[in-house]
Amino acid sequence: MKITVIGAGNVGATVAQRIVDKELANEVVLVDIVEGLPQGKGLDMYESAPIEGTDTQVVGSNNYADTSGSQVVVITAGIARKPGMTREQLQETNAGIVKGVTESVVAHSPQAILIVVSNPLDVMTYVAYKTSGFEKHRVIGMAGILDTARYRTFIAMELGVSVEDVQALVLGGHGDSMVPLVRYTTIAGVPLSEFLDQPTIDKLVKRTRDGGIEIVNFLKTGSAYYAPSAAAVEMVEAIVKDKKRILPCAAYLQGEYGIRDTYIGVPVKLGKKGIEQIVEVTLTAEEKAALTTSAEEVKSNIAKLKL
Ligand code: LAC
Repeated sequence: MKITVIGAGNVGATVAQRIVDKELANEVVLVDIVEGLPQGKGLDMYESAPIEGTDTQVVGSNNYADTSGSQVVVITAGIARKPGMTREQLQETNAGIVKGVTESVVAHSPQAILIVVSNPLDVMTYVAYKTSGFEKHRVIGMAGILDTARYRTFIAMELGVSVEDVQALVLGGHGDSMVPLVRYTTIAGVPLSEFLDQPTIDKLVKRTRDGGIEIVNFLKTGSAYYAPSAAAVEMVEAIVKDKKRILPCAAYLQGEYGIRDTYIGVPVKLGKKGIEQIVEVTLTAEEKAALTTSAEEVKSNIAKLKL
């Protein structure tokens, strides 16, 4: 198993580190355009392996030839947000970066499954899909797991219960229009509404929607990376271990949920082929409308692309 991570910034390097720590591959290739950066971080990471007890080798490189034959490629390349910026403001710059990266990745790993992490997430996943020419089940965006993890954390903090016992699903685009499914949120199987009143739930939903910018406002020079990298690696693990996990990911829809020709966050089954099924859960009219609005927003941003 060979996994490539494109971008040796905070998200990419932390993705690589988590893959190494979990020993999910024989080899991780960390690629960046900055000379020395992936080599330095990669070697440093490799040197942690004897302590962590993992035999995943790490190679840092500026050359895509080193990524050749990867089974999974995580694309984190692109600029991150600064305070006051929306994810959409990154679109033009990152579309060019993701397009170029995808071309290079595909040239060396034509069989790979691509996991896109660059923002604005749903649009960048579409860019990678179109550029790669891959089947839709092999190009997947990471957002729903992150948004759901934030939501689960805020609920656990509010209730003083284990994060593990909070089960939830956040659908939609990775942006202000994301759709946390409150009705399907449970604490150890018991509906959230048994524990919290509506105003409190609304407050937690809003904090989830603003979860990305909350971190940007603290960090000032960049965006979140611990939770985003954990989310991306949960997808990597589901794929390399063929676990058939049901996880919210950005998937290309062709009629599911009444949505077509766009990437949007929905529950999917992840296994060794990538997306093995799009899971269609029953939505109320209100939830369906929110998901449709979110998809329309992504589509209108896709329409602005100059690829
Ligand atoms: C976030 C950014 C990275 O949600 O989109 O943290």
